[in-house]
Amino acid sequence: MTLVKPKVLITRKILKEALDYLQEHTDSEIGPPDRNLTKQEIVEKIGDKEGLFSLLVDTIDKEVLDSAHSLKIIANCAVGYNNIDIEEAKKRGILVTNTPGVLTETTADLTWALIFAVARRIPEADRFTRSKKFKGWELDLFLGKEVTRKRLGIIGMGRIGRAVALRAQAFDMETVYSDSHRLSPEDENKFKASFLPLEELLSTSDIITIHAALTPQTFHLLSKEKLSLINKEAFIVNASRGPIIDEMALAEALEKGQIWGAGLDVYEREPEIEEKLLSLDNVVLLPHIGSATYETRLKMAMMAARNLVQGLKGERPENLVV
Ligand code: GLV
Repeated sequence: MTLVKPKVLITRKILKEALDYLQEHTDSEIGPPDRNLTKQEIVEKIGDKEGLFSLLVDTIDKEVLDSAHSLKIIANCAVGYNNIDIEEAKKRGILVTNTPGVLTETTADLTWALIFAVARRIPEADRFTRSKKFKGWELDLFLGKEVTRKRLGIIGMGRIGRAVALRAQAFDMETVYSDSHRLSPEDENKFKASFLPLEELLSTSDIITIHAALTPQTFHLLSKEKLSLINKEAFIVNASRGPIIDEMALAEALEKGQIWGAGLDVYEREPEIEEKLLSLDNVVLLPHIGSATYETRLKMAMMAARNLVQGLKGERPENLVV
């Protein structure tokens, strides 16, 4: 007896181990290796699929869901799921899963890489050295900012925010955080972090780092007005989601020297980047690589693949969002 495997759409070629697993369990159509599918292409391909393996760049909105006639589960290969209209999926009884936990440490590490890259002006100094401008040691060459014993302000104290806070202890920092939920006194003690309202965090921190999920409540949380509270000598890092900061307002503040620097891994309209940012030396720009180590991306892909297969078998997937 030949079992009919459920049809799934994998929007883009993924790591081999995860692909092998999905091909063993499903009848999969795979997107191209070198580009993301357009929304229109997803709309055209989703019709008869029971499962969707999506990436954070895929917009899965009402229009896509309206074209899905057999869809049971969307396994997003990311911890964030703002690319999916969760309410519309829920209305249709379509399960949605994400990949929490496995990328926490990797993203916290990248956040620290960004913090130091900005503080010590590493990309700028690298560009200088490569262009043969280094003429010998100078007392005031590339003066940056101290990190040790400074005040770190964490916006969003979930898994990643906490992992960032733990690392801050190695630098003897004073950590403050802002979140819609306060940590328990035990956790505030464990992470050596004190709660502050956002405005106070912004106006008193030397280094600000964002680790919130993108929701209607956090969209432009750092508006022009909020950005204006940040100290002139402070800098900001974002490895969460771009639209949490008003990117244009940030670029203007950096250009005018109202904020000392920024390190961005994410953007408001990825892959587009506000033009002004590209010409500023006090900004470090990365192409959304927060979780990009081979080990972590493999764990994410395998977790999403397992979630997908569990859902297709009628089991409760491990990492259910709705
Ligand atoms: C990466 O940005 C993720 O949400 O996993």
